Amino acid sequence: MNRVSNIGVIGAGTMGAGIAQVAAIAGYKVVLVDTTDEFVRRGLDKVAERLKRLVDKDTIPDEESQAAFGRVAGSVETHSLGDADLVIEAVIESIETKLSVFAEIDGVVGETAILASNTSSISITALAAGVSNPARFAGMHFFNPVPVLKLVEVVRGLQTEDATVTALHEVARSMGKTPITVADMPGFAANRILVPMINEAIFALADGVASASDIDEVMKLGASHPMGPLALADLIGLDVCLHIMEVLHQDFGDDKYRPAPRLRQMVSAGMLGRKSGEGFHQYDPRRS
Ligand SMILES: NC(=O)c1ccc[n+]([C@@H]2O[C@H](COP(=O)([O-])OP(=O)(O)OC[C@H]3O[C@@H](n4cnc5c(N)ncnc54)[C@H](O)[C@@H]3O)[C@@H](O)[C@H]2O)c1
Repeated sequence: MNRVSNIGVIGAGTMGAGIAQVAAIAGYKVVLVDTTDEFVRRGLDKVAERLKRLVDKDTIPDEESQAAFGRVAGSVETHSLGDADLVIEAVIESIETKLSVFAEIDGVVGETAILASNTSSISITALAAGVSNPARFAGMHFFNPVPVLKLVEVVRGLQTEDATVTALHEVARSMGKTPITVADMPGFAANRILVPMINEAIFALADGVASASDIDEVMKLGASHPMGPLALADLIGLDVCLHIMEVLHQDFGDDKYRPAPRLRQMVSAGMLGRKSGEGFHQYDPRRS
């Protein structure tokens, strides 16, 4: 198998910019693709800004930061991914958009290239069905913020071959991450365990078991969680939590994943957590 040296990242948003940053620091040449020059520029600016922050905090020397940024190119053309050994897709969470992006890249990359999706909730097997070689397709699920969180779930679709999983483990490790192989089941592992816990905390709040602050304290002091479940829901975004619960509920067809009515109400009211300034706790939106 060819070693990975060139990485394409499609989607220059929150996740794509973070993935481009960690890939460049790890020494890969990166092409960051989005639909417009402005989106590409915004993604590159995010990478530059975060690299500068690492220099300011003495995490990496200035030369290393400049060399890393020099390895990142931006483009609006998927043709620019022709040399990529690995393409990581991080566009919006829509199966139609992802399928059309993969159909396009499939015709551009070489036949040994690996295609990976950073999707949080879409079936890897379903996405792989749209490309010519599903054996070389897998999930590579990074967590937000990418430069900080160590976990990468390597998601094995029904047809993913071992060599693909091994290659993605190697790439993730070279980026300083800890890869864990998970099966292609709804929510994979992390979200399947985490988000129902958050949902249960919301049921407990609505049942009057304790106040929001006390529920958070219970899990911090009693279970050694670094952050309470309701504060975490506010950080993730209540709309994102609801979406994940809906996917789990629908795909498993099991009512144990029923979204808490209070969660649904809060999303309808625009109380989305930190990003809207109000969720289970109050925030200054300018500082979130
Ligand atoms: N944000 C998170 O916490 C998080 C965590 C893990 C995984 N994910 C997953 O990562 C993916 C991206 O999420 P995000 O939060 O970075 O979203 P985002 O909205 O910040 O970025 C998405 C980017 O994709 C671009 N895009 C849309 N269509 C495109 C196309 N056809 N070609 C190229 N670029 C296109 C958009 O212009 C945008 O810049 C989603 O699948 C999401 O589920 C997100």
